[in-house]
Amino acid sequence: MMTLQATAPSKEVKTTVLKMEHVTKKFGGLVAVSDFNLELKDGELLGLIGPNGAGKTTIFNLITHVFPVTEGRIEFLGRDITNLKTDKIIRLGVARTFQNIRLFGNMTVKENIMTAFHAHLKSDLFSAIAFLPNYQKEEEYIQTMTWELMKELGIDHLADYKSTSLPYGLQRKLEIARALATRPKLLLLDEPAAGMNPDETLELNQLILRIREKFKLTVIVIEHDMKVIMNICERIIVLDHGVTIAEGTPEEIQKNPVVIKAYLGAGDEDA
Ligand SMILES: Nc1ncnc2c1ncn2[C@@H]1O[C@H](COP(=O)(O)OP(=O)(O)OP(=O)(O)O)[C@@H](O)[C@H]1O
Ligand SMILES: [Mg+2]
Repeated sequence: MMTLQATAPSKEVKTTVLKMEHVTKKFGGLVAVSDFNLELKDGELLGLIGPNGAGKTTIFNLITHVFPVTEGRIEFLGRDITNLKTDKIIRLGVARTFQNIRLFGNMTVKENIMTAFHAHLKSDLFSAIAFLPNYQKEEEYIQTMTWELMKELGIDHLADYKSTSLPYGLQRKLEIARALATRPKLLLLDEPAAGMNPDETLELNQLILRIREKFKLTVIVIEHDMKVIMNICERIIVLDHGVTIAEGTPEEIQKNPVVIKAYLGAGDEDA
Protein backbone atom coordinates (compact mmCIF):
# COMPACT_ATOMS: atom_id res chain seq x y z
CA MET A 1 0.00 0.00 0.00
CA MET A 2 1.21 3.45 -0.84
CA THR A 3 1.84 5.81 2.05
CA LEU A 4 1.74 9.54 1.77
CA GLN A 5 4.82 11.24 3.04
CA ALA A 6 4.06 14.39 4.92
CA THR A 7 6.57 17.16 4.37
CA ALA A 8 7.47 19.33 7.30
CA PRO A 9 6.20 22.83 6.48
CA SER A 10 8.95 24.44 8.56
CA LYS A 11 11.61 23.12 6.18
CA GLU A 12 9.79 24.30 3.10
CA VAL A 13 11.81 26.81 1.11
CA LYS A 14 9.50 29.65 0.22
CA THR A 15 9.79 31.68 -2.94
CA THR A 16 10.66 35.34 -2.63
CA VAL A 17 7.74 37.25 -4.10
CA LEU A 18 9.01 40.79 -3.66
CA LYS A 19 12.47 42.11 -3.04
CA MET A 20 13.24 45.79 -2.59
CA GLU A 21 16.87 46.79 -2.23
CA HIS A 22 18.06 50.20 -1.10
CA VAL A 23 14.98 51.87 -2.56
CA THR A 24 14.96 55.64 -2.23
CA LYS A 25 12.44 58.14 -3.58
CA LYS A 26 13.04 61.85 -3.59
CA PHE A 27 10.51 64.50 -4.58
CA GLY A 28 12.74 67.51 -5.12
CA GLY A 29 14.40 68.06 -1.77
CA LEU A 30 12.00 65.77 0.10
CA VAL A 31 13.16 62.20 0.74
CA ALA A 32 9.81 60.38 0.84
CA VAL A 33 11.38 56.92 1.10
CA SER A 34 14.95 56.40 2.22
CA ASP A 35 16.99 53.22 1.67
CA PHE A 36 14.01 50.88 2.01
CA ASN A 37 14.74 47.15 2.05
CA LEU A 38 12.29 44.29 2.03
CA GLU A 39 12.23 40.59 1.23
CA LEU A 40 8.71 39.23 1.16
CA LYS A 41 8.13 35.48 0.99
CA ASP A 42 5.27 33.64 -0.67
CA GLY A 43 2.08 33.83 1.39
CA GLU A 44 3.34 36.45 3.83
CA LEU A 45 1.03 39.11 5.21
CA LEU A 46 3.05 42.21 5.95
CA GLY A 47 1.78 45.34 7.67
CA LEU A 48 3.20 48.72 6.72
CA ILE A 49 2.54 51.43 9.29
CA GLY A 50 3.74 54.87 10.24
CA PRO A 51 2.45 58.39 10.84
CA ASN A 52 0.90 60.48 8.05
CA GLY A 53 3.42 61.31 5.34
CA ALA A 54 5.77 58.48 6.43
CA GLY A 55 6.12 57.19 2.86
CA LYS A 56 3.78 54.18 2.95
CA THR A 57 1.72 54.95 -0.14
CA THR A 58 4.89 56.02 -1.94
CA ILE A 59 6.21 52.48 -1.49
CA PHE A 60 3.12 51.09 -3.27
CA ASN A 61 3.56 53.71 -5.97
CA LEU A 62 7.16 52.62 -6.45
CA ILE A 63 6.32 48.89 -6.60
CA THR A 64 3.68 49.59 -9.27
CA HIS A 65 5.85 52.22 -11.00
CA VAL A 66 3.41 55.10 -10.70
CA PHE A 67 6.69 56.97 -10.63
CA PRO A 68 10.27 55.68 -10.87
CA VAL A 69 12.61 55.05 -7.95
CA THR A 70 15.37 57.60 -7.43
CA GLU A 71 17.71 54.83 -6.35
CA GLY A 72 17.48 51.12 -5.72
CA ARG A 73 16.05 48.00 -7.25
CA ILE A 74 12.73 46.15 -7.10
CA GLU A 75 12.33 42.47 -7.97
CA PHE A 76 9.06 40.60 -8.36
CA LEU A 77 9.26 36.80 -8.46
CA GLY A 78 12.95 37.00 -9.27
CA ARG A 79 12.50 39.47 -12.11
CA ASP A 80 13.81 43.02 -12.09
CA ILE A 81 10.71 45.22 -12.41
CA THR A 82 12.36 48.51 -11.41
CA ASN A 83 11.95 50.05 -14.84
CA LEU A 84 8.87 48.25 -16.11
CA LYS A 85 5.68 50.16 -16.84
CA THR A 86 2.68 49.93 -14.52
CA ASP A 87 0.50 47.85 -16.85
CA LYS A 88 3.29 45.35 -17.37
CA ILE A 89 3.77 45.02 -13.61
CA ILE A 90 0.04 44.46 -13.12
CA ARG A 91 0.13 41.84 -15.85
CA LEU A 92 2.97 40.06 -14.06
CA GLY A 93 0.76 39.72 -10.99
CA VAL A 94 0.76 42.81 -8.78
CA ALA A 95 -2.57 44.41 -7.84
CA ARG A 96 -3.47 47.22 -5.49
CA THR A 97 -6.28 49.19 -3.98
CA PHE A 98 -6.11 52.93 -3.42
CA GLN A 99 -6.24 55.06 -0.30
CA ASN A 100 -8.72 57.28 -2.12
CA ILE A 101 -11.10 54.76 -3.63
CA ARG A 102 -10.91 54.61 -7.42
CA LEU A 103 -13.95 53.04 -9.01
CA PHE A 104 -15.88 53.72 -12.17
CA GLY A 105 -18.61 55.73 -10.51
CA ASN A 106 -21.14 55.46 -13.32
CA MET A 107 -20.83 51.70 -13.52
CA THR A 108 -22.56 49.08 -11.44
CA VAL A 109 -20.73 46.79 -9.06
CA LYS A 110 -20.81 44.00 -11.62
CA GLU A 111 -19.61 46.22 -14.46
CA ASN A 112 -16.72 47.49 -12.36
CA ILE A 113 -15.44 43.97 -11.85
CA MET A 114 -16.09 42.89 -15.43
CA THR A 115 -14.11 45.89 -16.68
CA ALA A 116 -11.17 44.84 -14.56
CA PHE A 117 -11.32 41.34 -16.06
CA HIS A 118 -11.54 42.78 -19.57
CA ALA A 119 -8.56 45.04 -19.04
CA HIS A 120 -6.56 42.13 -17.76
CA LEU A 121 -7.49 39.57 -20.39
CA LYS A 122 -6.84 42.25 -22.99
CA SER A 123 -9.70 41.20 -25.15
CA ASP A 124 -8.94 43.85 -27.68
CA LEU A 125 -10.91 44.53 -30.81
CA PHE A 126 -8.61 42.27 -32.79
CA SER A 127 -9.22 39.14 -30.74
CA ALA A 128 -12.90 40.00 -30.45
CA ILE A 129 -13.34 40.02 -34.21
CA ALA A 130 -10.76 37.53 -35.38
CA PHE A 131 -11.36 34.83 -32.81
CA LEU A 132 -15.06 35.04 -32.17
CA PRO A 133 -15.51 31.65 -30.51
CA ASN A 134 -12.66 32.41 -28.10
CA TYR A 135 -14.14 35.78 -27.41
CA GLN A 136 -17.45 34.20 -26.49
CA LYS A 137 -15.68 31.77 -24.19
CA GLU A 138 -13.86 34.68 -22.62
CA GLU A 139 -17.14 36.53 -22.07
CA GLU A 140 -18.63 33.47 -20.36
CA TYR A 141 -15.53 33.08 -18.26
CA ILE A 142 -15.66 36.74 -17.22
CA GLN A 143 -19.36 36.49 -16.30
CA THR A 144 -18.77 33.38 -14.20
CA MET A 145 -15.66 34.74 -12.48
CA THR A 146 -17.33 38.08 -11.77
CA TRP A 147 -20.18 36.34 -9.94
CA GLU A 148 -17.71 34.18 -8.07
CA LEU A 149 -15.72 37.19 -6.92
CA MET A 150 -18.86 39.10 -5.90
CA LYS A 151 -19.99 36.09 -3.83
CA GLU A 152 -16.56 35.70 -2.28
CA LEU A 153 -16.63 39.33 -1.16
CA GLY A 154 -20.29 39.20 -0.14
CA ILE A 155 -21.41 41.88 -2.60
CA ASP A 156 -23.31 39.71 -5.11
CA HIS A 157 -26.66 41.05 -3.88
CA LEU A 158 -25.44 44.52 -4.96
CA ALA A 159 -24.44 43.49 -8.50
CA ASP A 160 -26.65 46.05 -10.24
CA TYR A 161 -26.12 48.96 -7.85
CA LYS A 162 -24.08 51.92 -8.96
CA SER A 163 -20.72 51.65 -7.25
CA THR A 164 -20.81 55.19 -5.86
CA SER A 165 -24.21 54.58 -4.27
CA LEU A 166 -22.59 52.09 -1.89
CA PRO A 167 -21.31 53.01 1.56
CA TYR A 168 -17.52 53.33 1.90
CA GLY A 169 -17.01 49.91 3.45
CA LEU A 170 -18.65 48.18 0.49
CA GLN A 171 -16.80 50.34 -2.04
CA ARG A 172 -13.56 49.16 -0.44
CA LYS A 173 -14.67 45.55 -0.86
CA LEU A 174 -15.50 46.23 -4.49
CA GLU A 175 -12.01 47.66 -4.97
CA ILE A 176 -10.55 44.44 -3.58
CA ALA A 177 -12.73 42.44 -5.98
CA ARG A 178 -11.44 44.54 -8.88
CA ALA A 179 -7.88 43.96 -7.77
CA LEU A 180 -8.46 40.21 -7.58
CA ALA A 181 -9.84 40.17 -11.11
CA THR A 182 -6.31 40.70 -12.42
CA ARG A 183 -5.32 37.38 -10.75
CA PRO A 184 -2.52 38.86 -8.67
CA LYS A 185 0.16 37.03 -6.75
CA LEU A 186 0.95 40.14 -4.73
CA LEU A 187 -1.91 42.25 -3.36
CA LEU A 188 -1.24 45.74 -2.02
CA LEU A 189 -4.00 47.18 0.17
CA ASP A 190 -3.78 50.88 0.98
CA GLU A 191 -5.87 51.58 4.10
CA PRO A 192 -8.61 49.05 3.33
CA ALA A 193 -10.36 49.71 6.67
CA ALA A 194 -10.63 53.48 6.18
CA GLY A 195 -14.29 54.47 6.42
CA MET A 196 -15.34 51.11 7.85
CA ASN A 197 -17.18 50.68 11.14
CA PRO A 198 -15.76 48.29 13.80
CA ASP A 199 -17.94 45.37 12.65
CA GLU A 200 -16.92 45.87 9.03
CA THR A 201 -13.28 46.06 10.11
CA LEU A 202 -13.51 42.73 11.91
CA GLU A 203 -15.11 41.24 8.85
CA LEU A 204 -12.38 42.75 6.67
CA ASN A 205 -9.74 40.95 8.73
CA GLN A 206 -11.45 37.63 8.05
CA LEU A 207 -11.83 38.55 4.41
CA ILE A 208 -8.14 39.34 3.95
CA LEU A 209 -7.12 36.06 5.59
CA ARG A 210 -9.67 34.14 3.53
CA ILE A 211 -8.66 35.57 0.14
CA ARG A 212 -4.97 35.11 0.94
CA GLU A 213 -5.67 31.40 1.42
CA LYS A 214 -8.07 30.98 -1.46
CA PHE A 215 -6.13 32.93 -4.10
CA LYS A 216 -2.66 32.03 -2.75
CA LEU A 217 -1.76 35.65 -2.25
CA THR A 218 1.11 37.48 -0.68
CA VAL A 219 -0.22 40.66 0.91
CA ILE A 220 1.05 44.04 2.08
CA VAL A 221 -1.45 46.08 4.00
CA ILE A 222 -1.07 49.74 4.92
CA GLU A 223 -3.35 50.65 7.80
CA HIS A 224 -3.76 53.16 10.58
CA ASP A 225 -6.30 50.88 12.25
CA MET A 226 -4.31 48.75 14.68
CA LYS A 227 -7.17 46.24 14.95
CA VAL A 228 -6.28 45.21 11.43
CA ILE A 229 -2.49 45.41 11.69
CA MET A 230 -2.02 43.74 15.05
CA ASN A 231 -4.59 40.98 14.47
CA ILE A 232 -3.70 39.68 11.03
CA CYS A 233 -0.14 40.70 10.11
CA GLU A 234 2.69 38.32 10.84
CA ARG A 235 5.34 40.97 10.35
CA ILE A 236 5.20 44.74 10.55
CA ILE A 237 7.47 47.43 9.17
CA VAL A 238 7.27 50.90 10.67
CA LEU A 239 8.19 53.95 8.62
CA ASP A 240 8.72 57.45 9.85
CA HIS A 241 9.73 60.30 7.54
CA GLY A 242 10.67 57.73 4.89
CA VAL A 243 12.97 55.80 7.20
CA THR A 244 12.36 52.23 8.45
CA ILE A 245 12.46 52.69 12.21
CA ALA A 246 11.34 49.22 13.27
CA GLU A 247 10.49 45.78 11.98
CA GLY A 248 9.07 42.81 13.87
CA THR A 249 6.08 40.81 15.01
CA PRO A 250 2.97 42.62 16.29
CA GLU A 251 4.10 41.92 19.88
CA GLU A 252 7.57 43.34 19.26
CA ILE A 253 6.22 46.42 17.51
CA GLN A 254 3.68 47.22 20.23
CA LYS A 255 6.45 47.20 22.85
CA ASN A 256 9.01 49.09 20.78
CA PRO A 257 9.77 52.48 22.41
CA VAL A 258 10.96 54.01 19.13
CA VAL A 259 7.62 53.18 17.50
CA ILE A 260 5.62 54.51 20.42
CA LYS A 261 7.62 57.73 20.31
CA ALA A 262 7.14 58.16 16.54
CA TYR A 263 3.37 57.81 16.89
CA LEU A 264 3.01 60.00 19.95
CA GLY A 265 5.44 62.55 18.51
CA ALA A 266 3.37 62.78 15.32
CA GLY A 267 0.09 63.13 17.23
CA ASP A 268 -1.42 60.39 15.12
CA GLU A 269 -5.00 61.48 14.75
CA ASP A 270 -5.97 58.57 12.51
CA ALA A 271 -4.93 55.72 14.80
N1 LIG B 1 3.73 62.68 -6.20
C1 LIG B 1 4.28 63.35 -5.19
N2 LIG B 1 4.93 64.52 -5.37
C2 LIG B 1 5.50 65.18 -4.37
N3 LIG B 1 5.49 64.75 -3.08
C3 LIG B 1 4.87 63.59 -2.82
C4 LIG B 1 4.22 62.84 -3.85
N4 LIG B 1 3.68 61.72 -3.29
C5 LIG B 1 3.97 61.79 -1.98
N5 LIG B 1 4.68 62.90 -1.69
C6 LIG B 1 5.20 63.29 -0.36
O1 LIG B 1 5.95 62.18 0.13
C7 LIG B 1 5.73 62.00 1.51
C8 LIG B 1 5.19 60.61 1.76
O2 LIG B 1 3.87 60.55 1.28
P1 LIG B 1 2.99 59.22 1.32
O3 LIG B 1 1.75 59.52 0.62
O4 LIG B 1 3.80 58.08 0.86
O5 LIG B 1 2.72 59.08 2.90
P2 LIG B 1 1.84 58.02 3.67
O6 LIG B 1 2.73 57.33 4.64
O7 LIG B 1 1.08 57.19 2.73
O8 LIG B 1 0.86 58.98 4.50
P3 LIG B 1 -0.71 58.85 4.86
O9 LIG B 1 -0.78 58.00 6.08
O10 LIG B 1 -1.12 60.26 5.14
O11 LIG B 1 -1.39 58.27 3.69
C9 LIG B 1 4.78 63.12 1.94
O12 LIG B 1 5.55 64.18 2.46
C10 LIG B 1 4.09 63.51 0.65
O13 LIG B 1 3.69 64.85 0.68
MG1 LIG C 1 -0.89 56.95 2.28
